[in-house]
Amino acid sequence: MTEENRIEKIIDVCLRRGFVNQSAEIYGGSSGFFDLGPLGTLMRQKLVDFWRQLFVLDNDNIFEIDGSLLLPESVFKASGHLDSFEDPLIQCKSCKSMYRADHIIAQNTGISAEGLSLEELDKIVEENKIVCPSCKGELDKARQFNLMFSTGIGPVSGNKGYLRPETAQNIFVNFKRYASFMRNKLPFGIAQVGKSFRNEISPRNFLIRVREFEQMEIEMFFDPEMANKFSLFDFVEDVEINIVTKEMQEKEWSKPLSMSVKDAVEKRIIPNQVMGYFIAMESEMLQALGIPKESFWFRFMLPHETPHYSGGNLDLEVKLSIGNVEIIGNAYRTDYDLKKHQKASKSTFTIVSNNKKVLPHVVEPSMGVGRILYTILEYCYREDESRTWSWFKFPASIAPIEIAVFPLMKKDGLAEYAQDLHLDLKDAGFVSFYDDSGKIGKRYARADEIGILYCITVDYESLEKDTVTIRDRDSTKQARVPIEDLEDVLDALLEEELTFEELLENQKNN
Ligand code: GAP
Repeated sequence: MTEENRIEKIIDVCLRRGFVNQSAEIYGGSSGFFDLGPLGTLMRQKLVDFWRQLFVLDNDNIFEIDGSLLLPESVFKASGHLDSFEDPLIQCKSCKSMYRADHIIAQNTGISAEGLSLEELDKIVEENKIVCPSCKGELDKARQFNLMFSTGIGPVSGNKGYLRPETAQNIFVNFKRYASFMRNKLPFGIAQVGKSFRNEISPRNFLIRVREFEQMEIEMFFDPEMANKFSLFDFVEDVEINIVTKEMQEKEWSKPLSMSVKDAVEKRIIPNQVMGYFIAMESEMLQALGIPKESFWFRFMLPHETPHYSGGNLDLEVKLSIGNVEIIGNAYRTDYDLKKHQKASKSTFTIVSNNKKVLPHVVEPSMGVGRILYTILEYCYREDESRTWSWFKFPASIAPIEIAVFPLMKKDGLAEYAQDLHLDLKDAGFVSFYDDSGKIGKRYARADEIGILYCITVDYESLEKDTVTIRDRDSTKQARVPIEDLEDVLDALLEEELTFEELLENQKNN
């Protein structure tokens, strides 16, 4: 398998096995819109639960809200999205195809042109003689294209609304309510999981650039004077992360630096402890989801890549077969958003902190669900000598289905025994799947293909001795276990308190 066709292989499994499919596929769909199928939905649920436990439920001062997707025009006038949430569009003069100007430049020259002015983009296109990829026609001058989706609210004309392009705005506009809920005590965080919409010029690369996507965001509000006295930071300060500094980007860099978040904050590579905390947690989270540490880093965003008000942004970028991709954005948005909405709505958002009035600053970790899911799919995908079919080496933390139960045959009471066992396992809280169709080898192959960790087979010995076999996905080895021990053994295996080798070893010794 070449790196180039990895994405095609993953798309193929995703379509065939119920992970992801195009929305409204029978009508040809529309670019940039996907539905999660049954397995994709289970995975997405696990990812969101993982994030929620780590970032929300484990913290006493972070709570989650669920805001509306459609917001009135006034919100986005104040936030600046209507004026400047745009990407540079370039059109072919002959065939009228449209492209994102910075993307077409990157494809043709390798130059990173994100954030450059229209004049700078036109100059690069001209100097490099870039033509239309479809018809080789001449390209027109670049122009800005606003990414907001608009609609009319209610029957009265002129009452415009917009689908939110990020979940964050719900939180800023209702800041007063949430501050009051938190008893006006800084720091506090408001988290949200939900859909965001961007009318991308050229959606591409499957789940990576789409027009409707899900984000998991937190707005962490704090007193700017306390930015480096953030108590949660103490728990993570020694976490080693991979980082790409501003200075490294002035030359060609090939390998990120490894340093503790404490050092990175002290050296001002990370703007403050609040962001340092989230960065450390993100690094730990991705590894627990099966993404190897050497494959991702936090890159300090250069001035032309960040808004003018930013106090420092670091994107989490991951190496994928399609190139390096941002999957999480960490932004120090200062007091910009609260200031803008305060002014436009004539509200007051100040809070008393340390006996003085402050307009809170905000650090925002913003994660894309689809991009993280795709990254997990890429890193867990396997084609190797261990078997003749492809498989996913998902960790239990993200595997859509953990366990499958198979009767060796459908006859002689084996199917009934296996069905009962499957229902018992479900009752005990395992995500179990029952399959009795086709040869057992085919069933193992189908289970591997969707990353099921353990297959339990009920055979004739099960009827006689109340034992079953457990097949380990990773080694394809099998162990026989008494039914009465099965739940404990599965628990220990899934919680990684027991390895399959240890289980086999224990059996030998008994
Ligand atoms: N509130 C800040 C914000 O939205 P962003 O860097 O524009 O920041 C955050 O987006 C994350 O949302 C990205 O890191 C990415 O994972 C995801 N995302 C953004 N645009 C996307 C798109 N068109 N398709 C898929 N995911 C996207």
